[in-house]
Amino acid sequence: MTKFRIQGGKKLQGDIKVVGAKNSILPVLAAVLLNQRPVVLYDFPNLIDVENMILILKSIGCQIKREGSALIVDPSVISDWVIPDRYVKEIRSSIIMLGAVLGRMKRAKMTYPGGCEIGQRPINLHLQGLKQLGVVIEESHGYLECEADKLIGADIHLDYPSVGATENIMLAATKAKGHTVIRNAAKEPEITDLQNFINSMGGKVYGAGSNTIVIEGVEYFHETEYTVIPDRIVAGTYLIAAAITGSDIVVHNVNLDHIQSIVTKLRDAGCIITHFNRSLRIIAPKRLLAIEQTKTYPYPGFPTDMQALLMSMLSVANGTSIITENIFENRYKHVPELIRMGANIRVDGKTAVIQGIPCLKGAEVNAGDLRGGAALVLAGLKAEGETIVDNIHHIDRGYESFDDNLRGIGADIERI
Ligand code: UD1
Repeated sequence: MTKFRIQGGKKLQGDIKVVGAKNSILPVLAAVLLNQRPVVLYDFPNLIDVENMILILKSIGCQIKREGSALIVDPSVISDWVIPDRYVKEIRSSIIMLGAVLGRMKRAKMTYPGGCEIGQRPINLHLQGLKQLGVVIEESHGYLECEADKLIGADIHLDYPSVGATENIMLAATKAKGHTVIRNAAKEPEITDLQNFINSMGGKVYGAGSNTIVIEGVEYFHETEYTVIPDRIVAGTYLIAAAITGSDIVVHNVNLDHIQSIVTKLRDAGCIITHFNRSLRIIAPKRLLAIEQTKTYPYPGFPTDMQALLMSMLSVANGTSIITENIFENRYKHVPELIRMGANIRVDGKTAVIQGIPCLKGAEVNAGDLRGGAALVLAGLKAEGETIVDNIHHIDRGYESFDDNLRGIGADIERI
């Protein structure tokens, strides 16, 4: 079961609910290690990446059980500081385990995570930050061996507001002695969520959401129950699914503040979006308008994780659109696949020029990465005839029941 078969051309209609954010639950699961008391997490998404993170926690001693919609994690006994290689290879964001395991055990070892489908993904900022907290890091034979007699608060300036580096430093600093300041920190909502989770179990983290985060080290934490924020990228994906198919749907469990940059683009393309409580209704026009310029930037800029999805949509808009990808150097893998479906796209370095056509044509295409794969599914919803999207394990990393959810609002999609 590795492919999606999609019959394009169906209008979508109805309601869809967004689950908890993948990029929040991963650091929150790592942060549980800072505690020695059980933690209950609600509304966690059933995703391959989350499953792998749970396996990492189990492999170092956590007791984990599911009760209905709750995940109960008991980190009272941690028996190991080595993150098994196979998980690091499966889930690149396991790098944030480094800060958490160091916080708890003062030692950590893991294989070097290396690059991935969307780019080199260096971890220099993670390592520099941890070193400033007193961690001695040896890099040899592809492994990172980290040790700290004591973690000591520090004033850390990030050269770039990296999400993962900000999280890793927050995790280790939460158990350091004294104050840590992270300057030029990432401002993504998932950073604020991590702060709120740490504080819900007795931590002292302030300023997340701004570019300066202050952390006061804490020794002991208490039990907590927590629900992570809704996934803004999943919400954006369903909104674009409606836009590309000229549909009218309601997306529930959305924090509008987190997706303003996406909603603005959809309005620019001619969609009508209304907001009530935590739901958004989108009514898409028959033909979308091109969007002159979209540049990906760190939050609150337009998210790189939405770039491929927006490109699918613009490939059928009326006119010429330009997208510039500023965050990752290899994030245009979906372009040749969209071209196979008839799209008119030219890429020059970081810039893609999209000349919209009225409709795409079904084809056999390959999901090269998570969001690029989802973008091809959305293209398939619009295309004439049948589209087969191969390698959908990439998509399952970040979308819970993607096919079931799309079928629930009228899409003709099946797993084959
Ligand atoms: C996180 C998200 C990912 C999203 C990305 C950018 C998770 C699990 N993943 O990834 O979905 O696309 O933020 O919003 O939350 N960089 C360095 N050195 C470092 C770290 C990063 O040069 O030490 C560079 C990266 O190569 C990249 C840029 O900084 O070009 C952004 O990376 P970063 O913000 O760290 O992304 P991730 O945390 O990996």
